[in-house]
Amino acid sequence: MNYPEKRLRRMRYNTILRNMVSETKVSVDDLILPLFVCPGIGVKKPISSMPGNYQLSIDLLIEECKKTIAAGVKSVLLFGIPETKDEHGHVACNADGIVQKAIVAIKKEIEDIYIVADVCNCEYTTHGHCGTIVDGDVDNDLTLETLTLQSLTLAQAGADMIAPSDMMDGRVAAIREILDDNGFEKIPIMSYSAKYASGFYGPFREAAESAPKFGNRNTYQMNPANSDEAMREIEQDLMEGADIVMVKPALSYLDVIYRAKNEFNTPVAAYNVSGEFSMVKAAGEKDWIDEKRVMMEIITSIKRAGADIIITYHAVDIANILKEQNA
Ligand code: PBG
Repeated sequence: MNYPEKRLRRMRYNTILRNMVSETKVSVDDLILPLFVCPGIGVKKPISSMPGNYQLSIDLLIEECKKTIAAGVKSVLLFGIPETKDEHGHVACNADGIVQKAIVAIKKEIEDIYIVADVCNCEYTTHGHCGTIVDGDVDNDLTLETLTLQSLTLAQAGADMIAPSDMMDGRVAAIREILDDNGFEKIPIMSYSAKYASGFYGPFREAAESAPKFGNRNTYQMNPANSDEAMREIEQDLMEGADIVMVKPALSYLDVIYRAKNEFNTPVAAYNVSGEFSMVKAAGEKDWIDEKRVMMEIITSIKRAGADIIITYHAVDIANILKEQNA
């Protein structure tokens, strides 16, 4: 049957019906909000390139977590801005680390929160690279030493999930091993498996004070031109024991999300990164786009591509819109 008997618009004339046949529904349960924690008390330092986002000291971070939960978003992803940095990122490998202290403090005050801890060295090294430098480049196996120690101390502080974002080979296996050896076999690993060397991280590097002081990240993060390679990264991480695999950024990589979901029988996360967020905010401020509408369209497209979990700075705004829609 074809037109005029078949009319595809028939399914679009009524709002209730349109909702009934909607193929993709974003839920607040899918969302994780990234937050930045810094030293001090009463510190709320705006991140100029990411309107509405701040570096927060632990006391105010706790308040932010409470507000986030009240909005319906139950999970946060923590990044730390430490007091001091060193060559290797050792400052992030002990119980006194900024994120470790933040986790302990949050868990003391808030019961129903799920804390994902990002694991990487770039916020903690003087040079801003994601690991230990040997001969002008990040040394893979030496970096595994700090990554595993950082992961263990984060788990000891009470992190619910470990999320390595460094792109070293073998880090998932190494982290799994140290967690299991220390009784943390229940803690999942969400691996940033297909993380691209992307210009979309620009605002984050201001937020986390983590821009590399020399060179770039092209020897460890992936070439944006590749998606077969992303499948190999994901396959490797799954073999090493990753529980969730991530594609990052999200918007320019919807095809990679789609492939990941279709080729592997596993939960897929997508990171709607800082640059994607800031572009929407900037155009919204200029009234060039309807910010909320575009935000929902983007999040829906990431979900439609196949992401189960979406990490996004829009999380609380989305939760509020979903609430209005359901009211
Ligand atoms: C650190 C890290 C980065 C992001 C998350 N973890 C930046 C980078 O690799 O330079 C980016 C997140 C964002 O842009 O929102 N390894």
